[in-house]
Amino acid sequence: MPSEDAAPQLDVDQILADPGVRIVVCCGAGGVGKTTTAAALALRAAEQHGRRTVVLTIDPARRLAQSLGLTELDNTPRQVKGIDVEASGGELHAMMLDMKRTFDDVVLAHTDPTKAAEIFANPFYQAMSSTFAGTQEYMAMEKLGQLHARGEWDLIVVDTPPSRSALDFLDAPARLSRFLDGRMLRLLLAPARSGGRSMFSLVTASFGMFSKVVQKVLGAQLLTDLSGFVAALDSMFGGFRQRAEQTYRILQAGETAFLLVATPEPDAVREAAYFAGRLREEKMPLAGLVLNRVHRPVVPKLDAERSRAAAERLAELGGHDGTADVLRAHAALARQAVREQQVAARFTEAFPAVPAVSVTAQPADVHDVDGLRTIGAAISRS
Ligand SMILES: Nc1ncnc2c1ncn2[C@@H]1O[C@H](COP(=O)(O)OP(=O)(O)OP(=O)(O)O)[C@@H](O)[C@H]1O
Ligand SMILES: [Mg+2]
Repeated sequence: MPSEDAAPQLDVDQILADPGVRIVVCCGAGGVGKTTTAAALALRAAEQHGRRTVVLTIDPARRLAQSLGLTELDNTPRQVKGIDVEASGGELHAMMLDMKRTFDDVVLAHTDPTKAAEIFANPFYQAMSSTFAGTQEYMAMEKLGQLHARGEWDLIVVDTPPSRSALDFLDAPARLSRFLDGRMLRLLLAPARSGGRSMFSLVTASFGMFSKVVQKVLGAQLLTDLSGFVAALDSMFGGFRQRAEQTYRILQAGETAFLLVATPEPDAVREAAYFAGRLREEKMPLAGLVLNRVHRPVVPKLDAERSRAAAERLAELGGHDGTADVLRAHAALARQAVREQQVAARFTEAFPAVPAVSVTAQPADVHDVDGLRTIGAAISRS
């Protein structure tokens, strides 16, 4: 029978305690427990390993944010009070990413105030800085770069955006920075600006067509805004790409540990496997897989078949309805556990050397420090 135990055991405490590890990135498909895992690991690093830790959370549930003392989006780390760090001497700081504020800060840092004001007033910038696909991923990387550059923390734990695909975290920043670099936009807009007689005359026809289509789809006003936006961004040319590349290099460094989070469901495990493959290609250090929300029967030795047979036998005898119900429930849970192990085994078969650990599904959502502590202990098997 395939089993997750075939994978080497992931030792999260070893990672959290290692002074050489400065960044832990929690990645995975939407809704698998990235934010919970990131917060739980950061808390554990501070409480158990005495590290001065900061966790960058992205869109945390309101109750979880409140329990970390994050009542407002101020885009800067705040120390979390009331945790148990007396013995360890660690610290926990937490922040929520405000993608628009981060974008504004980047603009302010790289251009003069007049140009910045021009950019801020541009409707295209306003739309893009708050809603554009990929902006959140880019800004998460930007913020990671900023936190890293401040050099104030022993350990930075990074949550990643609730993207549909885990790979967006790696792909979107490059895509967005290519776009912001303006080369593509310049090409696109060149024929329109020069009345079709540009140095790109060879391609004018097709680009002309293209910008006509864009104009039709986006509207003339938006194209004018876009054009103004690109002109205003000229002073920052290249900066965006450079910064994304810089952070990319930090992610490739030995001080970084990626943790993949997945639930034992086919889509989440497939996503984790894609991501693991990609990290290998990019030479980014994958530390392990956290298999979250797994189900474990209370009596693992009693398998589903025997439990169901016993329930049927009791039902035939009559008078033991309660016991028969418990046996049926146990059988269902045991079947689910086997199914989950089979799904998880797909990952381990593809990446047998990647260490893994399972975290049991809690009876309720994790939204306070105690809950995070429980998850942290479960990930560490302690
Ligand atoms: N082991 C667990 N047991 C029970 N509930 C859990 C567990 N792990 C996470 N949860 C709950 O599952 C929900 C989703 O978790 P979380 O927000 O951490 O996922 P996410 O991957 O960050 O989601 P998104 O992709 O939307 O950002 C939350 O309500 C959280 O409390
Ligand atoms: Mg999340």
